[in-house]
Amino acid sequence: MTTVRNVLDCGYGTASWAIEVAEAYPDCEVIGVDISPHMKPDDTPENFWPELDDINRRLAYDANYFDLVQSRMVGGGINASRWSTYLGDIKRVLKPGGWVQMVECYYMCQSDNGSITDSHPLRRWSSNYIRSLEGIKDPRAPQRLHTLVSTAGFVEIEHRMIPMPLCGWSNDPRERRIGEANQENIQQTLSNLAIFPFTRRLGMSIQDVRSLVASACVDAANPDLKAYFPIYVCIGKKPGP
Ligand SMILES: C[S@@+](CC[C@H](N)C(=O)[O-])C[C@H]1O[C@@H](n2cnc3c(N)ncnc32)[C@H](O)[C@@H]1O
Repeated sequence: MTTVRNVLDCGYGTASWAIEVAEAYPDCEVIGVDISPHMKPDDTPENFWPELDDINRRLAYDANYFDLVQSRMVGGGINASRWSTYLGDIKRVLKPGGWVQMVECYYMCQSDNGSITDSHPLRRWSSNYIRSLEGIKDPRAPQRLHTLVSTAGFVEIEHRMIPMPLCGWSNDPRERRIGEANQENIQQTLSNLAIFPFTRRLGMSIQDVRSLVASACVDAANPDLKAYFPIYVCIGKKPGP
């Protein structure tokens, strides 16, 4: 990509990424779209344009407009049946030669040393989470990003899985720092993601949800389990110059 003029951030959240891009590239127009703009700071750069919309609906932008579209950690809000049209829509609004960047977390906990079994509360949390969304969202979509991007007709696709350690268990100093920094966030995430679907979709009592979350948090913080959530990253280019 030579010159980047127009950027779209789908589900911008705290707008940290959008603001960073807007500040680093003052000549660039960064549009952010979110269904609930409550996390956006009041003070944002003039070249950041936050908009209110639902990305489950057709993206309300002209064809061939953006140089870059980012879609990061919005999978929990995308309807199961929307994924393929979402990628098609992103391709439509990108200029020929423009890029999409997708980042999603698959909330099925993993451990490469095989120490997490189905009876661990953290694994039960994961299985419940996946089950609670079935039929409405697609909790396995993160694993299919490459297929989705390729089926939509993007080219020069690159994809990889990055393990997100749930606590500071890694021997690698960088991964260890990420795990340590992530620990509190993970405890919050395990609670926030579970309450509504576990009670409403699985019929669990709030006491049972709290108890499972508390035990899952103990597992997540146990360095012996070496637990991580896989983060899938995929970039692709709309055919063109
Ligand atoms: C986990 S946050 C991620 C924020 C940001 N992309 C990041 O990576 O830091 C998910 C964001 O997506 C937004 N979101 C979820 N479903 C959405 C939808 N259907 N349409 C637009 N925004 C949505 C939420 O409101 C929230 O701000």
